Amino acid sequence: MFAKHTARFATLAAAALLAACQPDAQSQQNAASDTHHAATVYNVGMNANFAPFEFTDSAGNVHGFDVDLMNAIAKAGDLNIRYKNQPWDGLFASLKSKDNDILISGITITDERRQTMAFSRPYFEVKQVVLVSDGQNIQSVNDLTKLDKIAVSTGTTGDYAAQKLFGATSPKVARFENLPLTIKALETGGAQAMISDSAVVGNYVKNNSKQNFTVIDVPDFPVEEYGIALRPEDTELLAKIDDALQKVRDSGEYEAISKKYFAH
Ligand code: ARG
Repeated sequence: MFAKHTARFATLAAAALLAACQPDAQSQQNAASDTHHAATVYNVGMNANFAPFEFTDSAGNVHGFDVDLMNAIAKAGDLNIRYKNQPWDGLFASLKSKDNDILISGITITDERRQTMAFSRPYFEVKQVVLVSDGQNIQSVNDLTKLDKIAVSTGTTGDYAAQKLFGATSPKVARFENLPLTIKALETGGAQAMISDSAVVGNYVKNNSKQNFTVIDVPDFPVEEYGIALRPEDTELLAKIDDALQKVRDSGEYEAISKKYFAH
């Protein structure tokens, strides 16, 4: 009895000490107290600036297709998870540093990203599309060269697509930290077009139906697949997630989540 109390006290004291030394005190403390239940809690990282896949409410809680899907996967795979919302820049590095264990954030699986991360089976398909603001008289891909500025989010596949269209160092490409800022550039006239994932652009157009946007499909842009990213060495966790994803598809939950966010 006494020994047990002492051990518990030691753990709590260590947790408090740890929390005091860490910039992210809140989550460190949670992580330490979670060990009492002997259950691993996986940190799921995302940049919740990407509706309808991930976004926040006024209280800062995350929602969206990816959140519903990840919750369903966690349930089917019996995994304890906790979300961490953070900038896109640094998200991939957060796996290696172990700030996060799992990333779900509308992340396109690319060969380059496979060099440093492992991906689940694909769970969603998109393409890059060009969203042109009203009155630009853009009909086709060729017309895009007429534009002065095209907004993209830094380090996304939309950024890479713009580089493909206009060249890696083109002054036409204006880069922003996240999707809301990229969209804002379009809305305020700083850019006449933006490039992003088709499902995200479609969601934006649907919610702003008063404006006359043109969505240009670029035949050269490939189909992209979203995957859940993990550290390459976490092969067991990857297998669990892939199994759970399959269960979520088989049970019809995937379909229900899809309908919730992409009903026409
Ligand atoms: N699919 C694109 C990529 O992987 C954009 C993803 C941006 N996601 C986000 N949650 N901000 O580069």
